[in-house]
Amino acid sequence: MNDPDRPTPWSQPWRQGDKCARYRALAGELDALLSGELDVVANAANAAAAIYHSLPGLNWAGFYFLRGSELVLGPFQGRPACVRIALGRGVCGSAAVLRQPVLVPDVAAFPGHIACDSASRSELVVPLLAGGQVLGVLDLDSPELGRFDLVDQAGCETLAAIVVRHLAQSALG
Ligand code: SME
Repeated sequence: MNDPDRPTPWSQPWRQGDKCARYRALAGELDALLSGELDVVANAANAAAAIYHSLPGLNWAGFYFLRGSELVLGPFQGRPACVRIALGRGVCGSAAVLRQPVLVPDVAAFPGHIACDSASRSELVVPLLAGGQVLGVLDLDSPELGRFDLVDQAGCETLAAIVVRHLAQSALG
């Protein structure tokens, strides 16, 4: 029986057809939200909030930024998280070293997964890439197993590219 107070999991098949359109709409909203502001923290904070509140089924969304050989926690929404992650460690450090998204359907099956929130069951990490350089990562966690698929991955790569474009403008501004 359907519980009207419990949102339908984003991963259910009937929602799949919506997802590309939803990501396109969110990309436009994010671009508009970040336009005209050059402060890096303000833009990363608003991006994390927009993503967290737009994508259903998340318990954490935010950024880690590369500082030397570590990823350091940036603006996010969700429970407090580990502050520093060495390159190559965990899902975030792996995505940063690989310079590719890492999609983890079951975090318990990912060797070296760093558990910041024990509720997290699946995770998607997308690197923030500027001209081949890693600036950091966008990290999404979900309490649902298998929450993320390749549509989410492609959608979040687009969102990450928008964030990077605005961060680059900040650096120039
Ligand atoms: N699970 C991540 C750590 C960051 S938290 O999920 C916010 C990882 O394994 O890198």
